[in-house]
Amino acid sequence: MSQSRVLVAGGSGRLGQMVLDQLLHAGAPDIIATTRTPQKLDAYASLGIDVRHADLDDPQTLSNAFQDADHLLLISTNDLSSGKRIQQHKNAIAAAKRAGVRRILYTSMPEPEASTAIPFSAEHVATERAIRESGLRYTILRVAWYAENPIELGLIPAALQTGTWLSSATNGRIAYVTRYDVARAAAAALASSVEESQTYEITGPAAMSAGELAASLSRTVGRPIQVREVDDETLGRELVSSGVLPQLAPMIVTTDANTRAGNFESISNAVLQLTGTPPRDFESFLRENKTRLLADAAH
Ligand SMILES: NC(=O)c1ccc[n+]([C@@H]2O[C@H](COP(=O)([O-])OP(=O)(O)OC[C@H]3O[C@@H](n4cnc5c(N)ncnc54)[C@H](OP(=O)(O)O)[C@@H]3O)[C@@H](O)[C@H]2O)c1
Repeated sequence: MSQSRVLVAGGSGRLGQMVLDQLLHAGAPDIIATTRTPQKLDAYASLGIDVRHADLDDPQTLSNAFQDADHLLLISTNDLSSGKRIQQHKNAIAAAKRAGVRRILYTSMPEPEASTAIPFSAEHVATERAIRESGLRYTILRVAWYAENPIELGLIPAALQTGTWLSSATNGRIAYVTRYDVARAAAAALASSVEESQTYEITGPAAMSAGELAASLSRTVGRPIQVREVDDETLGRELVSSGVLPQLAPMIVTTDANTRAGNFESISNAVLQLTGTPPRDFESFLRENKTRLLADAAH
């Protein structure tokens, strides 16, 4: 662990808090975390983390927030619909440069240029470009889709209700990675003192087809789950009729379209390389969440 000051911008989010946990666990001496709502991180402040206010929409807040940081992890914001993300990220990059940050790390997505099926891929392309053009040293973490997504978006709860895993991904495969493994990799990258700029693919250990995902779910819960292949339009409609929230269904449809196009299938050993231990596989992740999955399905 280097003695540099590390900063987690977005430290209050689910990934951000896991990164803070990992940094604390590794004994990082100087940790800064930023959020628009510092009270969210009171528990971390009491553990010695320097919690600061930062709003990526308001560049004036960022000069103080980023002061004295050596390595800054910019967690992409969750503001997917307002069209503000590129500017938010550019504000952070400019402020990092002004504050004398030595290296910026950023949570991007797999194959951002090719992933045109994902409406916000262009935001990652633009952010990566702004980072490269900033002249700062950088570590880009191209984070695969979270293993949590099929649960949080409602796909797995719907599959458990109906016994059917709806998919338009055809033969496409997806290399889901758990948020926890992303956090481990991000914390390790943040705390390392590498001298070169690098881009890592942060993926799970295997890329799986819809049939394999459904089979994993079926083995985990001990019930049959059949895949039904449909087109994108049918997928969107039938997801909603099987209980997926209308505002979340497009995320599942565009994920399947991008999976079908082959943009989510690459796997890497970056989690192992950065942390020394391999990422968890999808079925182990499901087994860890079995009680919750079955409880949700009972409602
Ligand atoms: N790879 C995937 O499958 C996947 C899935 C979901 C999300 N993501 C991306 O990964 C990121 C982290 O995931 P997560 O699950 O931890 O998300 P999350 O829990 O929703 O956290 C989002 C973070 O963004 C911060 N934020 C939003 N707007 C901001 C602003 N204007 N200024 C400063 N901070 C702002 C929030 O901080 P405050 O509200 O405290 O200010 C919060 O810390 C997401 O934001 C999203 O870009 C990736």
